[in-house]
Amino acid sequence: MGIQSNTHSPMSQPPKMALDPMGKTVVMKPDLIIDCDPGHDDAMAICVGANRGHLIGVTTVAGNVSLEHTTNNALAVVQMLGIDIEVHSGAAGPLNGDDGRFASFVHGENGLIGASLPEVTRQVASTDAADYILSATIEHPGAWIVAIGPLTNIATALERHPALIDRISGISIMGGGTYGNISAAAEFNIHFDPEAAEIVFKSGARIIQCGLDVTHQLLVTDALVDATAQIGNGFGRFSNGLLAGYLENIRLLTGESLEAVLYDPCAVLAITDPEIFEFADRYVSVETRGEHTRGMTLVDQRSWMRGGPVKWAETIDAERATEIILSAITAAP
Ligand code: BDR
Ligand code: CA
Repeated sequence: MGIQSNTHSPMSQPPKMALDPMGKTVVMKPDLIIDCDPGHDDAMAICVGANRGHLIGVTTVAGNVSLEHTTNNALAVVQMLGIDIEVHSGAAGPLNGDDGRFASFVHGENGLIGASLPEVTRQVASTDAADYILSATIEHPGAWIVAIGPLTNIATALERHPALIDRISGISIMGGGTYGNISAAAEFNIHFDPEAAEIVFKSGARIIQCGLDVTHQLLVTDALVDATAQIGNGFGRFSNGLLAGYLENIRLLTGESLEAVLYDPCAVLAITDPEIFEFADRYVSVETRGEHTRGMTLVDQRSWMRGGPVKWAETIDAERATEIILSAITAAP
């Protein structure tokens, strides 16, 4: 069944305009808070967010690896990018108290296999990511939350203060899909904490969802790895090791000459560069109980169920997205 019936691009969101000191109208970059679990693709997403958006802060959550590792990795990336923003750590596991199932088989024991990390000199500003999200969005009303790990911190913030949805532009989520990766039905981020995902999807927030259907269009190819080797700055060298290590590990893991997937930058690009996507309005619910389907996002694609509160990303111009990612790495120190 097709889902072309109500697709559109770009998103019907006017760019924020402002006057520069010379009185000329300029397009303002959107305010972003990135909640993440780095993770190779998370690291690339932070770089793109810092370049294409106005990155206010980063929060961390357990997911790909433990909270200790995801936080250390986020601090390292922010430090290498040389950006003056706070990093706040958050949830060490899912809302229901389960341990959670890490994806170290994909990202390595420390979450960034292949990457050469600096000695981390930055420190977390707090260990309460949800509280930071609540206070930062008072200071920056209209900010976007870009959620590229399990949704535990975001759900915690929404439970503490449901009116958060009224002062943000929305939540751009990498998660879910019409099929799974960690199970046949479920995508990793949603599967890690389905209760949190359910809270977020039911919150009434404006949601953009980059599920596996769209993220599988943006790949780490040998050509991309080679291109990062040509960049010549410190972040380029870091990215080269990171992407080469990720690609090699995926090939070892699957025993096939596959390409790896650059999931998380999609959720940033959906805000900063919406014109490279096609979106459809969809009703999406989260399966929390199914014997085989826990953590699945059920995306209603029936042609007569038009509309829906979730802006579901259907396609991405992968060539343009790759150019943007390379330019963000090039602009880094
Ligand atoms: C998601 O899971 C993680 O492994 C990636 O960082 C991405 O956020 C893809 O399923
Ligand atoms: Ca992630």
